[in-house]
Amino acid sequence: MRTDTGQVFKLEDYRPSDFSIPQTGLTFRLSPDATRVTAVLTIERRDGAAASAPLVLDGDGLLLKRIAIDGRELAPADYLATPDQLTILKPPARFELLLETEIAPASNEALMGLYRSSNVYCTQCEAEGFRRITYFLDRPDILSVYTVRIEARLDEAPLLLSNGNPVESGALADGWHYARWHDPFPKPSYLFALVAGNLGQVADSFVTMSGRKVELGIYVEPGKEGLAGYAMDALKRSMQWDEQAFGREYDLDVFNIVAVSDFNMGAMENKGLNIFNDKYVLADRETATDADFANIEAIIAHEYFHNWTGNRITCRDWFQLCLKEGLTVFRDHEFSADQRSRAVKRIAEVRTLRAHQFPEDQGPLAHPVRPRRYREINNFYTATVYEKGSEVVRMIRTILGAETFRAGMDLYFERHDGEAATIEDFLKVFEDVSGRDLSQFALWYHQAGTPNLTVSSTHNPATREFTLEIEQSVPPTPSESRKRLMHIPLAFGLVGAGGEPVAYGGVEGAAVEDGVIHIRKRRHMVRFSGVDERPAVSLNRGFSAPITLSVEQKADDQFFLAGHDSDAFARWQAFNTLLTDALIAAFRQILGGAKPAFSARLTGLAGKIAGDETLEPAYRALALSLPGEADIARDIGRTIDPDAIFAARETLALAIARANQDAFANLYGRLADDGRFSPDAANAGRRALRNILLDYLSLLPGGASLAARHFEAATNMTDRAAALTVLAHRHDGSPEAVKALAGFEARYGADPLVMDKWFQIQASVPGPRTVDTVRELIGHASFSMANPNRVRSLVGTFSSANQTGFHRADGEGYRFFAQTVLEVEKRNPQVAARLATALRSWRSLEPGRQAKAREALLAIAGAENLSADLRDIVERTLA
Ligand code: PHE
Ligand code: ZN
Repeated sequence: MRTDTGQVFKLEDYRPSDFSIPQTGLTFRLSPDATRVTAVLTIERRDGAAASAPLVLDGDGLLLKRIAIDGRELAPADYLATPDQLTILKPPARFELLLETEIAPASNEALMGLYRSSNVYCTQCEAEGFRRITYFLDRPDILSVYTVRIEARLDEAPLLLSNGNPVESGALADGWHYARWHDPFPKPSYLFALVAGNLGQVADSFVTMSGRKVELGIYVEPGKEGLAGYAMDALKRSMQWDEQAFGREYDLDVFNIVAVSDFNMGAMENKGLNIFNDKYVLADRETATDADFANIEAIIAHEYFHNWTGNRITCRDWFQLCLKEGLTVFRDHEFSADQRSRAVKRIAEVRTLRAHQFPEDQGPLAHPVRPRRYREINNFYTATVYEKGSEVVRMIRTILGAETFRAGMDLYFERHDGEAATIEDFLKVFEDVSGRDLSQFALWYHQAGTPNLTVSSTHNPATREFTLEIEQSVPPTPSESRKRLMHIPLAFGLVGAGGEPVAYGGVEGAAVEDGVIHIRKRRHMVRFSGVDERPAVSLNRGFSAPITLSVEQKADDQFFLAGHDSDAFARWQAFNTLLTDALIAAFRQILGGAKPAFSARLTGLAGKIAGDETLEPAYRALALSLPGEADIARDIGRTIDPDAIFAARETLALAIARANQDAFANLYGRLADDGRFSPDAANAGRRALRNILLDYLSLLPGGASLAARHFEAATNMTDRAAALTVLAHRHDGSPEAVKALAGFEARYGADPLVMDKWFQIQASVPGPRTVDTVRELIGHASFSMANPNRVRSLVGTFSSANQTGFHRADGEGYRFFAQTVLEVEKRNPQVAARLATALRSWRSLEPGRQAKAREALLAIAGAENLSADLRDIVERTLA
């Protein structure tokens, strides 16, 4: 484990390396406890570098067995080797360096570098895992052409894969065999990959737009081939979509995907050899929910799209991470929007952004989309870099228009193909194609925090003028107390009494183009002339900017927009705002000892939306799903009492259920499943609507038996898991819940990915008893502290998705948490550090919980030999 050196890496310190490595040859002789790695590196001193400069290569826990330059073994005085660094004191200007290292994949539990997952050898090199394999200039601006030879025992590893195209393979003595791979595209070391083992294959092919045939392979645990069909289909659709939407064609003869069961993240875009967490590959109706199918589609696409945005054009340094991640998320969002329903997809994206990125941006871990400093880069694979990074790209398209945006992307690919680029390079192409100055806009990359717009409106019938008064502010974030003014593209609409767009004569006070107000100053008075009647204002349509809004809006207008806004996102937003406002009011009533009450107008509107056949079922399901407890907490902002929030939310759910009892029951019946199954968006939408209706109906008398029937009758995992959740969460301890949980366990006990759902459902049961359940489940036969998916399902769900359980008033949730994080850390610092972010909003809790949360954080911070990963998170959280 890498312990903390306290070193801070700074963007302004970037300078190119003195050396380049045009060619990298690697030979692996694989063995679980002693794998030999022979690296043959062609190294050149760069023009302009001092002739006296030593060569300093990165390592991480390495053992050097042999070192030679141009065939001559080095004398001990010529170099300095520690586990973490190799220095060659007087290297020639051009030479071939041979290095032999020995590593032990079987005992690698950090899952970085070369490790074993269910007896399969695999690698994970992003961000700095390659240095756990051999000494190297392990930084993304060192692009090298790789040739890889893998040797393994045929019985242990019949399949040998690496990046690029296969070159040759054959038998060796003593039951061993080998394969050679060559990747013609120069790439950074973080994109290197190797897989060796016994795996089942699903094969297919794809013909690119220029007529080249690409062999496609998805490799899974033997026997699971039947679960890879959806992933393969998603891959082919992704390849086709990237040709049509971005003109991007695949560039190798083969494209392989391998699913492994031990993986720190979702998946990895290694050139020509993507490695996936198996939960994002394996699916069928029996084992996967509709959400799983949608995730598989999106992540397969995401990794594939990296081939151009990330691999062909990579990042100069890790500060530029959003250059590949934000852009690639934007691309996968667009793909999913085209494959599914654009409106529904957009609402889901915004919900995710608010749930994960907003709290990050509003807490101690806030950082710009392009950070300026880091201690541990692993901790910057964040919602800010990914999701906000994607929103920033979306805003560029909003500002430029789709056509100019595409021209900019074309220029980006043309200008920077084969390079390691920066955010400045990226912005420049859009300035060049549009002639616009994006310097103020660039603050979206450089300045942390969620901007807020305060908006009020006035209408003057005498002058026929409608005025929007808009003021921007950006709250302070760690180490950025003073903020500069941003360029915020605010899409809007003026909506007339019949729902129609209101025409206006002219507008002054801000640039307004194509339904977008360009906010650039602190305060704008935007005057629309020729407006006879006061319109309702629909703001931030399509969520054109990742901001918060404080709008002085009459409830009448809000109800009107929730029923009539022609922008589907804004319409959803209007209803969601009404729900949030009602929930916050109820929260305050509960704290004041009063019983919360909800208007019939609000509960009635829920019923109207549920039954509105002009709306897609998936949209209606999203509208009916109440803001989450964490969403409500975020909007309240401080002195959070999760129990009162929970009570408010339950009361509103019950009020909606009671007010619409018959209509919901009726609709629920009509949506019944006909037994056929398709994972497509329309079918998934109907299931989502029916399952949210079940959620409401389960609150009424007879709810437990209704949910039990739903569970028994389910013909797919979506319905089964939804019913189990309702039973476990709303009828905890009931005979129906106990029976369903046991039945599920008996049926899926041998399938770890499905057992993850069983863990998740139990870890998120609201209330003070769940911490005990979770403690107990750690001892369950299906649980393992070494597997990231298991840890996230049980411990991660409890700490980040169970507000009343985790934030138990006596602090027991936090104590359990601190202890478990430290236990996970011993094996896997990266997973532990991510778990630890669950306490990042501790300062917004009420004082009692706040003190207890702080104690837990201090307990972690005080532990001995803390990893760089965990120390970085905990210290920033406490700062
Ligand atoms: N680069 C991966 C992606 O596509 C994420 C990842 C980061 C995976 C680090 C593993 C390690 O988003
Ligand atoms: Zn990515």
